[in-house]
Amino acid sequence: MSGRMIEGVYVGWDNIRECFSLDPSVSHLNHGSFGAVPIVVQRAQQRLRDEMEANPLRFFTQGLVDRIAHTRRHLATFLGADPDDTALVGNATTGAAVVLQSLALGPGDEVVTTDHGYGAVGLSVERECARTGAVSRTLPVPLTATDEEVVEIVRAGLRPGRTRLLIVDQITSPTARLFPTAAIVGVAREHGIPVLVDAAHAPGMLPTTVASVGADFWVGNLHKWAYAPRGTAALVVAEPWRERIQPLVVSWEQGSGYPTRLEWQGTLDYTGWLAAPVGLFTLRSLGVDRVRAHNAALAAYGQRVVGDALGVAPADLPEPGGPTVAMRLVPLPPGVATTMDAARELRARIADRLSVEVSIAAWNGRGYLRLCGQVYNTPDEYDRLAVRLPTLLARA
Ligand SMILES: Cc1ncc(COP(=O)(O)O)c(C=O)c1O
Repeated sequence: MSGRMIEGVYVGWDNIRECFSLDPSVSHLNHGSFGAVPIVVQRAQQRLRDEMEANPLRFFTQGLVDRIAHTRRHLATFLGADPDDTALVGNATTGAAVVLQSLALGPGDEVVTTDHGYGAVGLSVERECARTGAVSRTLPVPLTATDEEVVEIVRAGLRPGRTRLLIVDQITSPTARLFPTAAIVGVAREHGIPVLVDAAHAPGMLPTTVASVGADFWVGNLHKWAYAPRGTAALVVAEPWRERIQPLVVSWEQGSGYPTRLEWQGTLDYTGWLAAPVGLFTLRSLGVDRVRAHNAALAAYGQRVVGDALGVAPADLPEPGGPTVAMRLVPLPPGVATTMDAARELRARIADRLSVEVSIAAWNGRGYLRLCGQVYNTPDEYDRLAVRLPTLLARA
């Protein structure tokens, strides 16, 4: 047994590692980037693939659209979203692009984001602005801003009449921060400005329902913290917008309206979506609240021991802003991983030399290591990283 009690939570989930296909010689401390699919979910998807390959014609032409609709309702219910507002899409990147390209932006319009936003979504904003003549504006939000300060920064940054879309992240990727999205949506609504909430990390990690966020558009990945096969995300569009939302690819289902025209994208492997409820079943079997408490406690533990090893004062360890956030940041020494290239290089070096997978981000000129907690992790994995990382950084 390698688990232990940490602040009242038993961290380390005995014998669960065998339920994943993860390479046992590696510490996987970055669940947040691409998730890890439990074997039971992989098997469920394989059974669906077997069915598909046994008779492709029957699989695609008899009932697949209905099976997808059934899955959508199941996932929407788990997320606390109105099933009629929900469409399945491949991932958060796609969901954001769908929204951006459906808004008919034009010259004089602007899209507002924050400097905690996800890079690929930022690139999508840039391309849509270049295509339409709109402009983008990024609001700087200090890492240490309180929720109230974040809301005020957003309030001051909106330009009613010009701002056609505000994009905020529910849990940010480079900074592992829970943003007060419901309050931000409230502020934007006062000015009639629609909000897209990029909730890539929320499903499975946060107890918050999609309905309580109240955004015009919300997109979340189920393939990160909800154990779904990769390529499973939900886009939730508030009723007044639904008919304006167009898929990136026009398919035979174009005439079916929202959400089927978004979901059906020609001949694709849809088995991941159909197997996604097994991911939720796995989460529920383990105990959703127990998993959340475990993962958050473990990430906090990792932040503390690695931060301590790098000489970061506890007060300088960024707070995630919510009790179930299972990702935590450790600031790297000044000058380390301050550019995207340097961050990539350091991540690869940690993986190669220490057999530890982490996320490294360069954010506003500073390098940050991001640690995640997941049921298959144990405290000693963070302890080992804490022992070996300072030497690796010293050799840089
Ligand atoms: C905040 C945020 N948005 C979007 C994405 C992109 O997710 P995907 O690659 O599944 O589209 C990520 C991935 O980590 C993310 O953290």
